[in-house]
Amino acid sequence: MSASKAPAPQFAALAAPFELRGVNFRNRFVQAPMCAMYSAPDGSATPQNVEYYRARAAGGVGLSIVEITFTDDRGSRAFPAELGAHNDMMIPGLSDIAEAIRSEGAVAGLQLGHCGPQRVISEGPIVAASPIPWMAGKRVPLELTIDQIEQIVQDHSDATRRAVQAGFQLLEVHAAHGYLLNAFLTPSTNHRTDNYGGSFGNRLRFLLEVVAVMRAELGPKRLLCVRLNGDDLLEGGLGIEEYSRVARALADNGVDLIHVSAGTYRAMDRRIPPMYLRNETFAGYAAPIRKASGLPVIASGTIHDMVEANRLLADGEADFIALARPLFADPDLPNKVLGGRYAEVLPCIRCNTCVGREQSGKRAYCSINPKTGREYQKALPPKTSRTISVVGAGPAGIQLALVTAEHGHRVTLWEKKDRIGGQLLAATRLPFKHTLPRLLRYYESALAWANVTIHLGKNADAASLTDEVIVLATGAAWWVPLEISRSATIPVLGAEDAIARLEQLSRRVLVVGGALVGIEIALALSSHCAVVLAERDSDYDDDVNLHARLVLMPALSKNRVNVRFNAVVEEIVGRTVSMTVEGRKFTDEFDSVVWTPRQRSTGARIASYAGSNLIAIGECTGARGLLETTASAYRSAMAI
Ligand SMILES: Cc1cc2nc3c(=O)[nH]c(=O)nc-3n(C[C@H](O)[C@H](O)[C@H](O)COP(=O)(O)O)c2cc1C
Ligand code: SF4
Repeated sequence: MSASKAPAPQFAALAAPFELRGVNFRNRFVQAPMCAMYSAPDGSATPQNVEYYRARAAGGVGLSIVEITFTDDRGSRAFPAELGAHNDMMIPGLSDIAEAIRSEGAVAGLQLGHCGPQRVISEGPIVAASPIPWMAGKRVPLELTIDQIEQIVQDHSDATRRAVQAGFQLLEVHAAHGYLLNAFLTPSTNHRTDNYGGSFGNRLRFLLEVVAVMRAELGPKRLLCVRLNGDDLLEGGLGIEEYSRVARALADNGVDLIHVSAGTYRAMDRRIPPMYLRNETFAGYAAPIRKASGLPVIASGTIHDMVEANRLLADGEADFIALARPLFADPDLPNKVLGGRYAEVLPCIRCNTCVGREQSGKRAYCSINPKTGREYQKALPPKTSRTISVVGAGPAGIQLALVTAEHGHRVTLWEKKDRIGGQLLAATRLPFKHTLPRLLRYYESALAWANVTIHLGKNADAASLTDEVIVLATGAAWWVPLEISRSATIPVLGAEDAIARLEQLSRRVLVVGGALVGIEIALALSSHCAVVLAERDSDYDDDVNLHARLVLMPALSKNRVNVRFNAVVEEIVGRTVSMTVEGRKFTDEFDSVVWTPRQRSTGARIASYAGSNLIAIGECTGARGLLETTASAYRSAMAI
């Protein structure tokens, strides 16, 4: 990549330093807290945590706010691999993180948070303001007693002491997103009749008590920040007027900074919006909170356009801009933007693989940046530079080409189509995949910066593949089984062909396969066709993450897509499709069928390129989805 140091005047507001209570921020970029699940089971920090934060501080953020950190072992912890500050044994690990951040020139912040009713871990106690589950069907929490509330206040005091001892310069208390302190603020989740419920002052009491003890532990030289909603995005929840009152009270009680967000777990889709939703930023809540409180504010929530980020600062709507997913995808975003290299930023595509994994108890990884969370696995520089031919310029081939070129190998990429991108390129035709074209532009530029030689529109054959290492990255096959389609008189298309001909399909269409690709095709077709979606299992495929489900399922039903589970297509004769649905035979007539289950590449196909120097990566090896694909490419690249 180019190493231009050209100033970027259009980002002057983002570049401006800031000072508060003697703490100096080098710019206005904030790493928003994002529980990545890299901690040890006891809550202590691991090298995975430390190097992940070091990389983002080295990437140029002014302030890094380390993810939600639990304060006690009696129910404050939301996630199985969450970071803890609940006992003194956590201090050494926390200090490793704080030192890594500070050594790279960023201010080290830490978020303390009690999960309250939104405990993702299924074991152990679950406590809240009132016995109200965060959603119907979720566990009913126990109502906290006054003694327990006092204990939690003390826990925040103790955790602050530990964080200060570890070297953090800013503590943020989580009072947003439906967690415990937010649940006390909001009347719909706080039905108490004691001093902690009812009136505005009573609902605010717990937060102010926590703020008071944290302020006392922080002393005059460290900063206290509160993460606060601008709107709960809930029926019966608080809105910007009430939160402006809360913000004023916080300013009167020693808080230095407010980090403005919105939503709770019930509004998960809008809180961390996937690519299907547009213009879902929460930046608009920052200015009223700033005005009401008179405090500096951090704007957050899907601020993915840095020109807009700069405008928010320049127009006085906010003092800092927080980025979670954009920095998860590209830790060097601030340095690139401020260094005049915005085009070199690897753009988050809002696939929400990261948060889908976190919510299902797994470590968060990024589907387009396999280095995220693996910063601690240092690459040994290869001993010799080799020549590498990569066949297939989909995400796997591109990823491997970029990493091996970065390691000093000479790389040639072969693509039979006239543009790179593979399945990503095909998917850009789907109306809601509007984040993909920017990623493809990034890949095209990045391959050029990395000096990868690209042959487009060419089928690599044995004669052209003379390099020392041959990498097969030809992706999945999307063919339709002949035994099913041979007697059909209607078009029976594979997924890729169907996407290319979306507008030409009409009337009644059967889409086979309830993985993400099938659902997306069904939804795209439902704007102009009557669609039946048939899935052979009893649920959608696992590649449909929680956030995608929250948006796609209502969209399917709004567009009247007829979804049939346990539906196995047996044969198509003429226009008639024979299926077994829930064990019962069934026939129906369609005007076309789209067959979306991926077919694994055959051994014969791989063998045609055979040789001891052959490596296969990505979906042609059976890997599924973007995350597995890029991770498999990265693993192989590291081994060359
Ligand atoms: C995997 C993941 C974990 C998150 N963990 C936290 C957290 O620990 N604390 C918090 O306040 N917000 C958390 N968030 C929310 C983010 O801070 C941020 O508000 C949200 O992702 C929207 O901003 P973005 O578009 O910059 O990602 C998390 C988000 C993601 C994607
Ligand atoms: S996994 Fe997807 S949503 Fe998460 S940071 Fe990476 S690209 Fe963005």
